[in-house]
Amino acid sequence: MKLAIAGKGGSGKTSISGTMARTLARSGHRVLAIDGDSNPNLALTLGVDPSLMDDVPTLPPDLIRRGQDGIELTRSFEEVTASHSLEAPDGVSLLVMALPQHADTGCLCSMHATVRTLIEAAPAGAQDVTILDTEASPEHLSRGTAKYADALLAVVEPYYKSLETGRRMVALARDLGLEDVKLVANKVRDERELEAVQEFADSNGIDVAGVVPFDEHMLLAERARSSPLDFDPDAPSMRAIGELAEHVISNGRMVSSG
Ligand SMILES: Nc1ncnc2c1ncn2[C@@H]1O[C@H](COP(=O)(O)OP(=O)(O)OP(=O)(O)O)[C@@H](O)[C@H]1O
Ligand SMILES: [Mg+2]
Repeated sequence: MKLAIAGKGGSGKTSISGTMARTLARSGHRVLAIDGDSNPNLALTLGVDPSLMDDVPTLPPDLIRRGQDGIELTRSFEEVTASHSLEAPDGVSLLVMALPQHADTGCLCSMHATVRTLIEAAPAGAQDVTILDTEASPEHLSRGTAKYADALLAVVEPYYKSLETGRRMVALARDLGLEDVKLVANKVRDERELEAVQEFADSNGIDVAGVVPFDEHMLLAERARSSPLDFDPDAPSMRAIGELAEHVISNGRMVSSG
């Protein structure tokens, strides 16, 4: 399954992407996590040693070319992952789209195209999971970076601007041709907030795939510079993201088997 995680800035995309990736790797999936944010933080959430952060490999600009049938990889998918991925805890393979090292070095259009092409080429066996963590802007949708995902989760917090952003991203994802597009409610503090999200989702014809409670453990993990899963695997948010991951994967299986 190929899954994109979208949403407003700070809604929890990276926390959810990284935790889902490790949870699914623990349950036996081969997981490729792609950091599609030009300000990459997925490695930290995955639990990569912070001292390695400056040495995390990024994708080179020469991985794609224009072929007869459109954009294609210049090397096989396996070669790219073998040479440019970093192995994160639980055996998750991490690819990082870009990390601009210098100011004024231009746009990342071709890197978005590279990630799109890699997702298209990623294996689609029952045990294979690709998770794309995106940046807050809708660029991954307007540029079609997430085009070859099977499903997209828009992470929303229970306040209006976040919900509105989620709604717009869902519309763009559907426009891109993605059929399985849902909201995930994150940082939910009580029943009232949950109802507000549910009401918004119902009135806009969008399903809610899962609910993650507001959880102090996330913030404590940040303070400890730890991955939230390593910090406390039994924290309420970790359990909720684990359930979400299993739900999304089993739903994906049902969709792909018709
Ligand atoms: N369920 C939660 N409860 C409490 N805090 C949370 C929860 N989920 C995420 N956070 C915190 O919210 C902040 C933003 O999370 P995260 O970096 O995952 O968001 P993001 O959407 O990836 O942000 P960006 O748009 O910058 O990429 C972090 O400090 C994280 O620890
Ligand atoms: Mg992020």
